[in-house]
Amino acid sequence: MAQKIQFITALGIETSCDDTGVSVVSYCKKTGKTTLLSNAMSSQIDIHRPYGGVVPQLAAREHVKNILPMLRKALRDASVTPNEIDIIAVTNAPGLIPALLAGTSAARTLSWFWKKPLLGIHHLEGHIYASFLEDSQNSTSLTQSSFPLLALIVSGGHTQLVLMREQFRYEIIGETQDDAAGEAFDKTARILGLSYPGGPEIAKRALQYSTALEQKQTHQKSKSSQSDVFPSLPRPMLHSRDFNFSFSGLKTAVLYATQSFRKKNSLKNSDPLPEIFVNAMCAEFEQAVADVLVQKTIKAAKKYSVKKVILTGGVSANQKLRSELGNALSTLRPSIIYHPSPINFSTDNAAMIAAAGAARWARLPDNKKQEAKHSWKTLKTVPSLSLSEISFF
Ligand code: KG4
Ligand code: ZN
Repeated sequence: MAQKIQFITALGIETSCDDTGVSVVSYCKKTGKTTLLSNAMSSQIDIHRPYGGVVPQLAAREHVKNILPMLRKALRDASVTPNEIDIIAVTNAPGLIPALLAGTSAARTLSWFWKKPLLGIHHLEGHIYASFLEDSQNSTSLTQSSFPLLALIVSGGHTQLVLMREQFRYEIIGETQDDAAGEAFDKTARILGLSYPGGPEIAKRALQYSTALEQKQTHQKSKSSQSDVFPSLPRPMLHSRDFNFSFSGLKTAVLYATQSFRKKNSLKNSDPLPEIFVNAMCAEFEQAVADVLVQKTIKAAKKYSVKKVILTGGVSANQKLRSELGNALSTLRPSIIYHPSPINFSTDNAAMIAAAGAARWARLPDNKKQEAKHSWKTLKTVPSLSLSEISFF
């Protein structure tokens, strides 16, 4: 019994975009640590790839098809029965409405049928809590000593610098004025003839380029730089006084450079681009995105005297960004703890939703806990909602 009181077993459901996820986590109230028990996931990438992006109706259809098999897998992998689940947490904002509805409908049905409390979780709050999921390399909890904390959230739909002075309170101090960083990766990949999702493809090509360049330099013992051959890309808003970002112009700069390369080399739009050009562009694009994100994050960390910086969201899977932010912090602000989310929880998953749900449940006043027992009747699904608008309880 004591064991049960100390731990919260949370079931999380995530369907805001193109991943159907169901996960079970165990949250220790004493230490604030979240342990993963299972993380079932069905990706729809292959279905959306021919369209170059996510098609909402197709996403919803796939979520409806996959959610029960994922639920069964998550319970089996975690070796828990519905009886042992304390709470259900589901992404109810923001996201594609048909996709969100698939998850919230399933969660409401389970909450009613199993008689379990239900919490709606903001997708970006989930990304923040992904940083505190325990895995083999990561064992950190979000405690009072973590604050003030700065989160750089970089995903397909959002790019935000979020200041947290305490749990569940979010102040957006900077955000993209146009495309999200992940969106820019995806659109740039398309321009260069690479497949969806663009982030991992661009990262792979950029690595190929820098490896080839290193080998060439070792052989020739001479320094040649990418800019000798290819135009360099801008670093949008790098020196603006605020903490905002802009990535749309960067993608357009890639488009213009590609068009001018085609013209110069008499290539038609249907002709494939040479690998060396694509790889060099990918390397420069990845570097440009990393430069802006890192510089703004360091500036904000300094201004707000934060104790911890976390990096999360799909683009946080990018090795260049992870290491450049880590290096910059350890050189310029060595006292700040740097905490990128574990790579397997960077992109969308349900474990992060379960983790945020459990952390909320642990702090919820009794009257709100009572309300959560009836959320199956009232839970709203909200396609567009800012992190700064969500309530503390
Ligand atoms: O967080 P996420 O899974 O979904 C949203 O909430 O949007 O992020 C997906 C985004 C996509 O744009 C994808 O291209 C990008 O994350 N991404 C990456 C990498 N892996 C995924 N971007 C750069 N480098 C990567 N390795
Ligand atoms: Zn996401």
